[in-house]
Amino acid sequence: MTQLSRRNFLKLTGSSAALGTLSLAPVTHAQQGGPLLPAGSTALPYPRELVTKLSELVINQPLYFNYPDNRSPCVVIRRGREIKSGAGPDKDVVAYSTQCTHMGCPVSYDQEAEAFKCPCHYSIFDPDNTGQMVIGQATENLPRIILEYDDAEDALMAVSIDGLIYGRQANII
Ligand code: FES
Repeated sequence: MTQLSRRNFLKLTGSSAALGTLSLAPVTHAQQGGPLLPAGSTALPYPRELVTKLSELVINQPLYFNYPDNRSPCVVIRRGREIKSGAGPDKDVVAYSTQCTHMGCPVSYDQEAEAFKCPCHYSIFDPDNTGQMVIGQATENLPRIILEYDDAEDALMAVSIDGLIYGRQANII
């Protein structure tokens, strides 16, 4: 059995600089040249799906749908006033995952309080402020469904998600 001398090793690797760059650390997606992915992001493409016609939404009345697949319940609400992250011509439509970020219980929209409430441990989330957790056991905001409005079709389309759906390692599975 032959031993590889330092001199021969350096010949094989090209230069002594290679020694300084060798690492056993796993190569990340970003190190491979891909973009940094925030929580909830996925390298797989999100589907572009019709949520509803804008004209079918009643102000402050929730409409439930699934996105990005049938196991992910969501809700869309027309707020009737401009919201910072709102979609549509009046920027007043918002949508969220309805799975609580604490332990995944289904949150419901309280029309009187104009807030999402979790029945399990009483977390409350703000629909007008990117699903922000207001109070309770949860530590993360509700994942926000990114909507686009198709003017020609009067259609609200779900196109991606900001935040990680409870219980998943990636939103697209
Ligand atoms: S599951 Fe919602 S607060 Fe615990």
